Amino acid sequence: MGFFSPLCKISRRGKYFVLLLLLLSVLAWIATFSGETVKSGRFFSATPQTLIKEDTLRVKVNTWTEATNLLKTPPPKVECPQESPLLQGALKLSFEASLKLKDVVSDNKGVTEGEYTPPDCTARQSVAILIPHRSRERHLLYLLHHLHPFLQRQQLHYAIYVIQQAGDATFNRAKLLNVGYLEALKDYSWECFIFHDVDLVPENDHNLYVCDKQPKHLVVGRNATGYKLRYKGYFGGVTAMTREQFLQVNGFSNTYWGWGGEDDDLRIRVELQKMKILRPPADVARYTMVFHKRDSGNEINKDRMRLLGRTQQVWRKDGLNSCSYKTMSVERLPLYVNVTVDIGKP
Ligand SMILES: *[C@@H]1O[C@H](CO)[C@@H](O)[C@H](O)[C@H]1NC(C)=O
Repeated sequence: MGFFSPLCKISRRGKYFVLLLLLLSVLAWIATFSGETVKSGRFFSATPQTLIKEDTLRVKVNTWTEATNLLKTPPPKVECPQESPLLQGALKLSFEASLKLKDVVSDNKGVTEGEYTPPDCTARQSVAILIPHRSRERHLLYLLHHLHPFLQRQQLHYAIYVIQQAGDATFNRAKLLNVGYLEALKDYSWECFIFHDVDLVPENDHNLYVCDKQPKHLVVGRNATGYKLRYKGYFGGVTAMTREQFLQVNGFSNTYWGWGGEDDDLRIRVELQKMKILRPPADVARYTMVFHKRDSGNEINKDRMRLLGRTQQVWRKDGLNSCSYKTMSVERLPLYVNVTVDIGKP
């Protein structure tokens, strides 16, 4: 009788009792099992609802964060005023022998990698300042010291590019400026370009570093010439042209090695395009020329008169479209982008 055999020995009532116990335990077991199913059933069916609740909660949280952010972020920037309220007019310039690069860096905290954007308004123009350079560190330091605050007072979006000629071949200012234009456009679509000599420091911030409908010449006078225009038609030192104006004249000639002539060549190009050179009032367009002797490697270009005689014939082929060079390095320093370039030799 196997399993039931011991039951035979107990009484009839006892048998029923054992059966009842068995039945109850089976029922209890079913109950726990179905209880779990009910529980898990509830768990599963509840999940989507919980998720929906969490989602609504998240949406609510998001709108809340957005709302508080809206309160925290300033209203959208408006265009900077026609005339900056920060201008100071004629300033006394200082050229302290003790000036250090780190001082200029800490004076210009709003500048990153040579670039600045006005914090409270949208600048009216985006301007790239191009400075051709070779071993004139002191001049560069003085210029950066004055130019950064000067441009910030004008509420411009700007960046300063210093284009260094590698090697010791004769200096070629014009070709370096062509390189500066091409390299700066790789960073940003600048509307306006300022071609700037390293030794000229502007004295009056009403001399605006912005471009106009026509090319602009910003140096009417300098202390070295008694603040008179060097000669009629002079277009050197500091000039401003839009991206399009400069492209239209095919940039500078690449063929002027040594000092002089390249700025007259640019004037001829501008005049050939029937453009007219604008100048700010003489009392504003004033510069201090920091003293220096002629650098070796930038001797007077004795060939310049001959070159100027052929500008009309060659300008279409000699300029931005024929400017070949090798970029050695592009360093993003705190106060300027330092482009070192091999432009070949005469
Ligand atoms: C112009 O001013 C600068 C800075 O003071 C000075 O180094 C330079 O010698 C001055 N030039 C003339 C011709 O006065």
